[in-house]
Amino acid sequence: MRLRGKVALVTGGSAGIGAAVVERLAAAGAQVVVHGRDAERSAAVAERVGGAVVLGDLAVPGVAAEVAEAAIAVHGRVDVLVANAGAGWSGPFTKLNGDELERLVMLDLLAPLHLVRCLLPPMIERRSGHIALVGSVAGRTAVAGEAVYAATKAALDIFAESLRLELRDTGVGVSLIVPGVVDTAFFTARGRPYERKRPRPVSAATVAQALVDGIANDRAEVWVPGWLRVAPAVRALAPGLYRRLSARFGEQAPGR
Ligand SMILES: NC(=O)c1ccc[n+]([C@@H]2O[C@H](COP(=O)([O-])OP(=O)(O)OC[C@H]3O[C@@H](n4cnc5c(N)ncnc54)[C@H](OP(=O)(O)O)[C@@H]3O)[C@@H](O)[C@H]2O)c1
Repeated sequence: MRLRGKVALVTGGSAGIGAAVVERLAAAGAQVVVHGRDAERSAAVAERVGGAVVLGDLAVPGVAAEVAEAAIAVHGRVDVLVANAGAGWSGPFTKLNGDELERLVMLDLLAPLHLVRCLLPPMIERRSGHIALVGSVAGRTAVAGEAVYAATKAALDIFAESLRLELRDTGVGVSLIVPGVVDTAFFTARGRPYERKRPRPVSAATVAQALVDGIANDRAEVWVPGWLRVAPAVRALAPGLYRRLSARFGEQAPGR
């Protein structure tokens, strides 16, 4: 897809990976609608690229559809959706209360699906568009202490694959972005800083560059860094070995 002149909605564009994606898309000539929850942060990012702002808490039922409508209202259409807004939650599953669980699933899984539901039909009609979903290596490898987060990302993964098959020959592309550890406020927000030495965090700009290349070249999957593909391959081919290695080297649930 040629991005020049295209209208792109980036959810979670106010910070981290999303803010870097906004800059890359704008540099490629797209008109960007920056979604965020924090009005000031979102406005600051939008101002840097001459973009518009749409606000909304995507963990609240019904808000994803409002965000989609507000984004369409800006330029009359959305050609590219980057469903990036998300948050983690770290701790033993038994400590996650019902409200937290529902907010997490709403934000990390249901909101992207509702955004796609609202934005996809006009893309199919125009026979042009792209959906980029930001997953996580957690959705391929499983992580102790992040069972629900990992489950939402695993669901996004198979949703992306299914949708891509369904949209074959429609002119609409689907990409799943699979980042490993990225240097953003994600870890502070989830309540547990990233303290491991490896894998080393990559920058949000690196993920953004790969994501935008993925859209431009209609890539089904974009792994950042690429070598992370090894982990799910070992899990598929030698599950017993994988579980032993995970128990030894993987993250452990805090406060168990
Ligand atoms: N960082 C990593 O290591 C990593 C690895 C794999 C995947 N990911 C995924 O990458 C995506 C972006 O994360 P990040 O690392 O850039 O984290 P981040 O710096 O914490 O940014 C998160 C973004 O999501 C928005 N957001 C959070 N909760 C929201 C809510 N309830 N409603 C609406 N927007 C909300 C934030 O908006 P406000 O700032 O306006 O609140 C912010 O723009 C997430 O989907 C995450 O799961 C991150």
